[in-house]
Amino acid sequence: MKVMVIGSGGREHALAWKLAQSKRLTKLYVAPGNAGTAEIAENVAIGATDLEGQLAFALKEKIDFTIVTPDDPLALGMVDLFQANGLKAFGPTKAAAQIEASKIFAKEIMEKRGIPTAEYRSFDSFDEAKAYVDTLAFPVFIKASGLAQGKGAVACADVAEAEQTLRGMMIDKDFGEAGESVVIETFLDGPEISLHALSDGNNYLMLPSSQDNKPVYDGGKGPNTGGMGTVAPLPGVDQHQVDELGKLVVAPLLDELSKMGTPFAGLLYPGLKLTSNGAKVIEYNARFGDPETQAYMRLLDSDILELLLACTDAKLATMKPIWRKETYVVNVALASGGYPGSYSKGAVITGIDEAAKLDDVVIFHAGTKLVDGQCTTNGGRVLYVSATGSSIEEARAKAYAGVSLISFEGMHYRHDIGQETKNNG
Ligand code: AMP
Ligand code: GLY
Repeated sequence: MKVMVIGSGGREHALAWKLAQSKRLTKLYVAPGNAGTAEIAENVAIGATDLEGQLAFALKEKIDFTIVTPDDPLALGMVDLFQANGLKAFGPTKAAAQIEASKIFAKEIMEKRGIPTAEYRSFDSFDEAKAYVDTLAFPVFIKASGLAQGKGAVACADVAEAEQTLRGMMIDKDFGEAGESVVIETFLDGPEISLHALSDGNNYLMLPSSQDNKPVYDGGKGPNTGGMGTVAPLPGVDQHQVDELGKLVVAPLLDELSKMGTPFAGLLYPGLKLTSNGAKVIEYNARFGDPETQAYMRLLDSDILELLLACTDAKLATMKPIWRKETYVVNVALASGGYPGSYSKGAVITGIDEAAKLDDVVIFHAGTKLVDGQCTTNGGRVLYVSATGSSIEEARAKAYAGVSLISFEGMHYRHDIGQETKNNG
């Protein structure tokens, strides 16, 4: 089977790495891919949001199955386009992907179905939003309703910060159209947990728990990033608890989307806070998490291709994926100097091969590019060092042993991934 993965991040490298182990695979493409995917697949120089370009390539090469993972092509309707042209594609349709692409749409469904979430109000007028924040107790979270590359949610400690954030989103259009409408919600306290559910539109299947560390600095300090590290499973959250959380926040959502005539087939990723008043949803994503996927692919024993095909073919009920027992993963992001703000590209990276030789360590590439045979930086999050162990401490020690072998100018990373999973940030 000829398979193509759309995207170029660590998540896509991890999926490609696992797909490459499938017996059913005959040829693997990643579009556009990175220096890591180039080693295991054929990179195709077509951007992830060039829907027509991707379609033309898939038709020409007779790709049997395309896996669409980034949020933007999903929100633009890549899966609809491929299906309309008789091609099999993994991921939700444009209508179902609204669950991530519009925070207001997601909040309305949660309210309708009684799914626990932060209290909120939504606004498309700056003056009304500003008048509302004047009445609030702080801190609050202000979020651009649309897609903002994981940077559209801002914690505001007081009225002045809230006003500045609203001005940036709604008047200065820091996130373009995505910030024309905003959601203002109460601040939720507690450890964060990522859930991942595969769905074929009728049935769903919960993956193990995981945790993403989004703030850029140790101890959960600094601005949010796309994700500086992951652990999976999250210590203290077993599969029974995950299944219970699935009944609370996955089942009613999927049911509602089906009732609306827009069933969700693909990967649903709810982000939750485990507050003292119970679990509450922060957001729904319509795709695999990045960097959660890097951890999941290390834990999965079964064939990922079979699982993803079962979602597209409405056969998920027949699947019983096997996860590695008593195994933990710690996955650490190595970022470019300046990230999540502006950063430069083109620094030469050393030590990847040495780190990859360590037992139980796998390196996943994100923003990397081969230039004259040398691996160089080409993005904000550059590499992930993932390690498995029979305890979180063991996995953590192996991951950081790998990190210590790699370097590039400006490289920075968090030192506490896997250390503080109860009060993470
Ligand atoms: P989002 O863009 O909605 O994924 O939010 C990004 C991150 O901001 C989340 O992963 C949380 O760490 C944090 N966050 C979002 N909303 C809240 C909230 N209401 N209370 C506390 N933290 C939040
Ligand atoms: N783990 C963060 C994200 O994928 O949005």
